[in-house]
Parts: sequence; structure tokens; C-alpha cells
Amino acid sequence: MRITVMDNAREIGKAVGRMFVDAINEKPDITLGLATGASPIPTYKYICKACESGKVSLKNVSTYNLDEYVNLPRSDKNSYYSFMHEQLFDRTDIKEKNIHFLNGNARDTEKECRKYDEMLEKAHIDIQLLGVGRNGHIGFNEPSICFSKGSFKVKLTQSTINANKKYFSENPMPTEALTMGVGSIMKAKKIVLIATGIEKADAIAALVNGDVTPVCPVSILQFHHDVEIFLDKAAASLL
Ligand code: F6R
Repeated sequence: MRITVMDNAREIGKAVGRMFVDAINEKPDITLGLATGASPIPTYKYICKACESGKVSLKNVSTYNLDEYVNLPRSDKNSYYSFMHEQLFDRTDIKEKNIHFLNGNARDTEKECRKYDEMLEKAHIDIQLLGVGRNGHIGFNEPSICFSKGSFKVKLTQSTINANKKYFSENPMPTEALTMGVGSIMKAKKIVLIATGIEKADAIAALVNGDVTPVCPVSILQFHHDVEIFLDKAAASLL
């Protein structure tokens, strides 16, 4: 596990963005696992700028997003589908057919999860980008009594609802989501995690110094052989 502490989220975005641009230039048909939320926004900004100025092309890149809310139309501005299009996809030359999401509106969510897992199994994610919840969640794998292997429907915890409800000014925030399982996340060849702000300090301390336990899902990353962690000083303050 390699840890880099930087001054602020912008600097982290530049460093991680550069890492992704280099990886795409090295392997133009790379498969990326992507996260939503505030943490990856500066990274996506960097990639968009690089694409707009011709320094990288995403036309052969494939992506798999970690999670999606249940029963929120894709067209809703708060769906992760909309978020990704706004923050990254619409500002690059990625092809829509290469973009993959769990469908939170599927009538049979169990079937949808098995279908996504089959796709992930074939996809072999090269780099998985992660944020982390205040409660240690990755994707929407909330603290639990066991790690989940494949994708599943999760009931979001109060901590996650408290952290994300600020985005839902018009409609109430969904309380369920579909998420990739910890098992699928761990299959990525490389994992890059970004955490900024004091509210992430406990989860980061548990990840670096704690036991591996599903009570703090991010702790599983201790068992991955290629993890890079980018923190600001506040998120690193309990290390
Ligand atoms: C989002 C996701 C979540 C977030 C986490 C941190 O796709 O998988 O695990 O990464 O909730 O969110 P931010 O970055 O908004 O603090």
C-alpha cells in the first residue's frame, strides 16, 4: 500500500489524473472501474482537459461504475449515470457502448446484479478508482458482518444518507442502491483510492492501522497487492 499525502484535493486530482492519462496512453483499450462523489471530481476534470487538448483519447476505453441508486431515473441529475456523463463522459470521446452501469431501475435487481458480475468477470478491470465513506464503505459496501463477493442491493446506512442527502434538494434521497461487491473490487489489477477532509480520517486510520474487518469495508484493501492511496493532510491526520 503506497500512501501519498498532498496539500489539497486539486493537487491530488492532478496527480491521479496524470496517472490515469498515462495509463490510457500506455493501454488505449484499458478497462477502468470508476467512482462518483466529490473525491474523484478533480481527477475527472484533469482527464477531460487532457482529452480536450488532444493529450489523450478515451475512444477505446471501457468503464464500469461502482454503484447506482435504486429507483432513481437515469435522467435525474442525482443519478450516478447523470453524474458521470456530466463530470467525465460528455466531455471526452468515450463511446456510450463502452460505458457500463448497474441499472438501479431494473425490475429484477438480483438478475441485474448477476448480469453485471458476469460482465465484470470478463472485463478484468485494470484500474479501480475509489473514494471512501466516513463509515469506511467502498462502493456502497456498507459496514456489515461479512464482505460481499458480487454485486447486490444494499440498504444505505444513516451515515451515508447524512453524507449524501445534501445533493437531493428536490426529491428525497433513495435509501437503497446497487453496488459492486468487495470481491469484484478486489479483482482489479490496481486500486487507487482518494480521501480528503477530516471526516475521512477515522476510516483511513482503520484502513492503514486497523484489522481487516467487514465492519470497516475499506480495510480489505490491506489484502490487495497494488493499492495507491492519495490523501490530504486532514484525511491523513490520524496516521
Ligand atoms: C461512489 C462511491 C462511494 C463514494 C464515497 C465517498 O460511487 O462508491 O463509496 O466514493 O461515499 O464519497 P465522497 O467522495 O463524496 O466523499
